[in-house]
Amino acid sequence: MAGWLAATTRLCSPNIALNRAGVTLPMRIAITGGAGFIGSHSVDRLAGAGHDLLALDDLSSGSLENLAQAGPRTRFQRLDVRDGAALAGALTAFRPAAVLHLAAIASVLYSVEQPRDSYAVNLTGTLHALEAARAAGATRFVFASSAAVYGGDPALPSAEDDPLRPVAPYAAHKAAGELLCRSYRAAFGLETVSLRFFNVFGARQNPDSPYSGVISLFIEAMSGGGVATIMGDGEQTRDFIDVGDVTRAIEAALAGPDPGPEPINVGRGESVSIRDLYRLIAAAVGAADAPRFAPARAGDVRHSRARIDALGTRLGLTPQIPVAEGIAHLVRTRLASAGG
Ligand code: NAD
Ligand code: UD1
Repeated sequence: MAGWLAATTRLCSPNIALNRAGVTLPMRIAITGGAGFIGSHSVDRLAGAGHDLLALDDLSSGSLENLAQAGPRTRFQRLDVRDGAALAGALTAFRPAAVLHLAAIASVLYSVEQPRDSYAVNLTGTLHALEAARAAGATRFVFASSAAVYGGDPALPSAEDDPLRPVAPYAAHKAAGELLCRSYRAAFGLETVSLRFFNVFGARQNPDSPYSGVISLFIEAMSGGGVATIMGDGEQTRDFIDVGDVTRAIEAALAGPDPGPEPINVGRGESVSIRDLYRLIAAAVGAADAPRFAPARAGDVRHSRARIDALGTRLGLTPQIPVAEGIAHLVRTRLASAGG
């Protein structure tokens, strides 16, 4: 850990994006939220591809342990994206070719309880990241948007040109962030790409808060011998996607040809009910299929499933990891680390 943390010195690779043949060469990439769940997996993939990285994070839900495999080409700086001057200073010093903006309070529920906080980090933070990217001369900006923008009762599967009908402040912040990105492409020529992540799961998803993702909460509770809680009747559905597939989409959006201004869904195009998810995890863990039930959450989306044509045509990707396989792998890893 000390080795790469100490590597906050000058980087030696040139700031090169794509050559004329469209071949990806080492790039400098700044990643806000780089110590979080999706951020740290992105760091691992991009560092593995030979890019020079600056991970920025306030460590509010992310951790330095998540960056243990990052290697010497990654440096870390603790920073709050609500501090626009600090963010601009960090990016101007690093001179990234591309910025991956992931920093956010990722919880829909939190945004219902604390809409101002959510706005400050998730929307003002996005404005600060766009401004910092522009000031630093970056050419590509990838924004972590969300399936939540489609709202509570969307057409299924949801396509990128469907209407946006946010039912929680978080979703409105993501929809507004997308529009800001679009305006920076039109006004300043910054190649902004909004990726609408559906429900992402995998190792390092922090299970320590009531705002955590459902898969991490269910595995944590059941593998510890406890019972997890289903909010509502459990018949709500989500399109879960493994973080390995998500980081492939992120890499293509950052380092591939410009996919253009329209947002891109990043899901599997399949949906699983929360009740079935409980059964799947209980079976994988060897726990009883006996959930506790609690009232549905305010702002909760009922159903969610992506149309994924654009993921294929514009980013050249097909999701590779079936949900049951990803969950089985996660559970094996969790039980092995617990000595179970
Ligand atoms: P995460 O909480 O693990 O990652 C977010 C990171 O941002 C954390 O490391 C956190 O410490 C950091 N952060 C929070 N506030 C900050 C601030 N003020 N300044 C600097 N850093 C700050 O969550 P994640 O699941 O990895 O989500 C990453 C992004 O993807 C978020 O923008 C989230 O809204 C979006 N997203 C996630 C999912 C999902 O299913 N996980 C789906 C759709 C969109
Ligand atoms: C998740 C992401 C959000 C993303 C969105 C895209 C997290 C924390 N949230 O929101 O960033 O933008 O997907 O679709 O990663 N549930 C239970 N029991 C629990 C926890 C949750 O039943 O203990 C239910 C919820 O009520 C909800 C479903 O599981 O119906 C999924 O919840 P959650 O994992 O918090 O994700 P989303 O709200 O869909």
